[in-house]
Amino acid sequence: MAKRAKKRANKRKTATRRARQAPKLLSDLFLETLKDIYFAENKILKTLPKMAKAAHSKDLVAAFNKHLRETQGQVRRLEQIFKMLGKPARGKPCEAINGITDEGAEIMKDFKNAPALDAGLLAAAQAVEHYEISRYGTLRTWAEELGMPDAARLLQETLDEEEATDHTLTELATSVINLEAEEEYRAAA
Ligand SMILES: [Fe+2]
Repeated sequence: MAKRAKKRANKRKTATRRARQAPKLLSDLFLETLKDIYFAENKILKTLPKMAKAAHSKDLVAAFNKHLRETQGQVRRLEQIFKMLGKPARGKPCEAINGITDEGAEIMKDFKNAPALDAGLLAAAQAVEHYEISRYGTLRTWAEELGMPDAARLLQETLDEEEATDHTLTELATSVINLEAEEEYRAAA
């Protein structure tokens, strides 16, 4: 190989190696996690109406519908943060939320019209909430670290909504299980 061509090839190799080794910063991790939760929220937007349709308890249906409206606002907050970063709002497939929602879908199928359906839906919804609470808590802390107080405030607003939803679901658990016991009692009578 001619000397000049060899030099060029070596230069290219070094550039590729450098690009591969580019330090991954907290800001990169923040953006990646933002894409992950953006995907998750959009997935939840599609899942919640199905869960509301399947649920028996009126209170559970109301809780799912209320959270659907909140989720629409949460998606908008995330879009505001993408804008602050000067990045397009784009999701990145998140296997964690796909797994949790697949489990929920399985419950809906296996327990269709069964007395225990609501208890299963409630458990699936709480698994979603706990995942989101973990993600939003992390993102809020990282936004503070990165000197983005406006993003941190938006993430905290969503975190408060997720925690309130989780609390409502915990309170509903008793009444849902009581309703289930009544239905089982009636079915056995
Ligand atoms: Fe959410």
